Amino acid sequence: MNPIPISAEQSPLLFLELLYKLRVRDVMARDLVTIRRDATMRDLQHLMQSRRVSGVPVVEDRRLFGIVSIEDLIQALESGRMEEPVSHFMAASVVTVEEDMPLSIVLSTFNKYEFRRFPVLNARNETVGIVTARSINTRLLLELFRELSRIENQHVLPATEHGTCYFKTYRVARSDFENAGKAATEIKNTLQTRGVDPSIIRRVAIAAYELEMNLVVHSDGGTLTFRADEGEIQLIAKDRGPGIADVHLAMQEGWTTANEWVKSLGFGAGMGLPNAKRVSDEFHIVSEPGTGTTVTIRDTLSAPP
Ligand SMILES: Nc1ncnc2c1ncn2[C@@H]1O[C@H](COP(=O)(O)OP(=O)(O)OP(=O)(O)O)[C@@H](O)[C@H]1O
Ligand SMILES: [Mg+2]
Repeated sequence: MNPIPISAEQSPLLFLELLYKLRVRDVMARDLVTIRRDATMRDLQHLMQSRRVSGVPVVEDRRLFGIVSIEDLIQALESGRMEEPVSHFMAASVVTVEEDMPLSIVLSTFNKYEFRRFPVLNARNETVGIVTARSINTRLLLELFRELSRIENQHVLPATEHGTCYFKTYRVARSDFENAGKAATEIKNTLQTRGVDPSIIRRVAIAAYELEMNLVVHSDGGTLTFRADEGEIQLIAKDRGPGIADVHLAMQEGWTTANEWVKSLGFGAGMGLPNAKRVSDEFHIVSEPGTGTTVTIRDTLSAPP
């Protein structure tokens, strides 16, 4: 295979961003080959030969009971136990991953356990796919090229100042918890430098943080644009999906779709959007499933006395 025409050293951020952006569900194989507990090791042999796989999750009604590998098959062959059920040979304690997890976490799972495949569970504990080194590689390469062309077409402007108007757009990557909050912090510092009233800075910083976190937690990645003029401050959070099915519901206090994993990181109280609205003079949200979400916020600055 030809080498990828960019080096990780020149574009470390691109690789890192992809690792945070892609989730297990993006890289898993969905055409899952499974076997039942009561199938024989002979059945397993035929399945492995016909489907060309070297490990098979033991699944019934989407529930995962274990995993059998080629090593188990060899053991059954050597000991003449090919008519025994799979349940006698399977490994019953299986390391699994959740479909919502970022790829970055899965890669560390690969490192930690040295297994070659991990069944994927959804929030209802159903088996929905499997991740292997191959499924990850294929998807990563594809996304890499896609992301490169997307970046080439994207115009993220450096900060610009025209007279009294300051303007800056921040890119916010999906699941990048390491950098989450940096844009909001920088916006806060900029307002301080410009000598804006501290009570307004506090309000804008809260709104910026909530919008930035929603981009990280819920969106496929997007931008947070900040504009400060003499008379007003504007924040626009814009993403390219997945969109919100019911905006009215999303605006209710306590309503959240955050999964357990996100909640374990301290997010998902369902307070972000209501909070952002409360601290803003004007609040607009437009969202469409499949297209994305745009939240626009305005705060009027009182004229200096
Ligand atoms: N940019 C977005 N893209 C897709 N869905 C979003 C986006 N922003 C918010 N949502 C949806 O709206 C819901 C409510 O958002 P909100 O910020 O109020 O709460 P939360 O993010 O779930 O929790 P908290 O902000 O308290 O940590 C989210 O759970 C999510 O379903
Ligand atoms: Mg939120």
